[in-house]
Amino acid sequence: MSAEARDLQDEHQKYVEDLGGFTRTHSCGELDVSHIGLEVNLAGWIQFRRDHGGLIFVDLRDRAGLTQVVFSPEEAEEEHRRAGILRAEYVVALRGLVRARPEGMSNPSLPTGAIEVLVREWKLLNTSKTPPFPIEDRIDPGENLRLQYRYLDLRRPRMAANLVLRHRVAQSVRRYLDEAGFLEIETPFLTRSTPEGARDFLVPSRVNRGNFYALPQSPQIFKQLLMVSGLERYFQIVRCFRDEDLRADRQPEFTQIDIEMSFADEEQVMRLAEGMVARVLKDVRGLDAALPLPRMSHAQAMADYGSDKPDTRFGLLLKDVTDIVRASSFRLFSAAPLVKALRVPGGEGLSRKEIDDFTEFVKIYGAGGLAWIKLRGAAGSDEEWQSPIAKFLSADEKSALRDRLELQSGDIAFFQAGEPGMVNAALGNLRIKLAEHLGLIDKNALNLLWVTDFPLFEYDGEENRYVACHHPFTSPAPGSDPGQPGETLARAYDMVLNGTELGGGSIRNHRAARQREMFDALGFSREAAEEQFGFLMQALEMGAPPHGGIAFGLDRLVMLLAGADSIRDVIAFPKTQKATCLLTGAPAGVEGGQLLELGLKLREAREEVRERPAETGVNKPA
Ligand code: AMO
Repeated sequence: MSAEARDLQDEHQKYVEDLGGFTRTHSCGELDVSHIGLEVNLAGWIQFRRDHGGLIFVDLRDRAGLTQVVFSPEEAEEEHRRAGILRAEYVVALRGLVRARPEGMSNPSLPTGAIEVLVREWKLLNTSKTPPFPIEDRIDPGENLRLQYRYLDLRRPRMAANLVLRHRVAQSVRRYLDEAGFLEIETPFLTRSTPEGARDFLVPSRVNRGNFYALPQSPQIFKQLLMVSGLERYFQIVRCFRDEDLRADRQPEFTQIDIEMSFADEEQVMRLAEGMVARVLKDVRGLDAALPLPRMSHAQAMADYGSDKPDTRFGLLLKDVTDIVRASSFRLFSAAPLVKALRVPGGEGLSRKEIDDFTEFVKIYGAGGLAWIKLRGAAGSDEEWQSPIAKFLSADEKSALRDRLELQSGDIAFFQAGEPGMVNAALGNLRIKLAEHLGLIDKNALNLLWVTDFPLFEYDGEENRYVACHHPFTSPAPGSDPGQPGETLARAYDMVLNGTELGGGSIRNHRAARQREMFDALGFSREAAEEQFGFLMQALEMGAPPHGGIAFGLDRLVMLLAGADSIRDVIAFPKTQKATCLLTGAPAGVEGGQLLELGLKLREAREEVRERPAETGVNKPA
């Protein structure tokens, strides 16, 4: 802080008073013509000040909104004179008279735009340094600055509204689940590792040196134990911790709406869960969701959308054309285990440059390139195939492709050939990219659906073994063959909203023998399973009831309802993409003594992660 800024701040600090019994009668968002003639007390921050014709006008802001406040020498001379010191973000309390704004001066875009408050008395409650960015929605100061000064960022109306929405969603969930007989029960944060598939955050124990707690990736095992306890219906709005690569919809600590119920099968869990989401939509958006929600099998989702979280707001479905090109002279197609195509109706107008950009885009998903064909003219005589691969396709193949893809004159179709995982990822993501590019997505739509019949296992090429698709406590579908892990389906379900996985759950293995088979299939030795999950196995052997549940990502739900691009915008104090907190500087080094106490020693020098806050300057008149 410069000397000049410090002097001004010190100077103005002299005028700061205590609240001194000055109580607010109204918020800055609620006054309208019905309050005209009333004397009110307001308190808040100076948003904006302008001096005009001997009067000082100020926009006063609190959580609820803005009210125009007028200091007039005729009304209160001394109060008007003192108002000369007001700067942006100074904090004031005032008493004044609500009056109509003069003819032609109303602001219809503001709820309080028809009135103003004529000040009779005011107090300065605090000064402020110049904020590093103006407290306004339309200004984008960049995310790093916003995160560093998060308390100022949260003063902005849009961010405050997101937190209000989050609160409303949480309260709506609590009411719904309470009415349905669910008990809110807390589970430990200092616990053992839970296998949800990410890395654990570890906490060293001082009392039991060399031992570590893990922060829970979810309360999965505890909620199952609560079912063994006979509590029947549990929920918790709970923080979960996962050390994984971050994206716009992932944070290292995030919040789940976690649910478990006894004596329930998938129908009951899904009905309960969709009822909850419908209640939230009704409570916070006034929307009526059509229940029951549509369902799609995992196999269908992968076939048509190339994704287990299909965005059903637009078409552009994928088509399997492997059989058509099986004997093609184009080796890339004929030798591939899977060839799929994506037809874009009327897409022949896409330029070379655009196609090149899409080709680069699919490379993110491991594709070597992107084949395409443009079709012009009617079938037969004047039909024209414009494509780098057209010369490899026989007349029969072209005609079969035309039928399968329902190709019309003026269309483009993209092709991807290779391993199914890559083909689906590349075309599934290209599908979304194209829809955004072509403006095919209805931004107001909220398309909810269930994806069901997930595989129980998926093959992990890196680890060379099967891993649980959901988690190891998920029950296999009835009649499945333990000897065929690749074929086995799970009693698992995900709820998807606009292409984002909102929640997922399953019916669990409530019989110990079945759970043991799962551990065997996942390649756990009996000793390892006993060491990690012995307590759960023991509980399952003591009258565990059939049970199942689900967990929703609260942050994701609020993000989608708020129309935000990132879950960071609906979390009060989120981490950056690099998992740091720019506000507090976490993570940070610790005193050598603390490490010593824990019996720990760093093997490598500590990396510097902290970024220093920028200096702020003089607070000029607002
Ligand atoms: P799952 O791992 O599918 O299931 O998580 C449930 C939901 O939590 C949200 N989510 C996340 N949100 C933000 N950041 C993250 N890093 C993150 N990871 C997950 C998603 C997801 O759908 N115990 C099981 C649930 C159960 O079986 O009942 C579980 O945790 O919205």
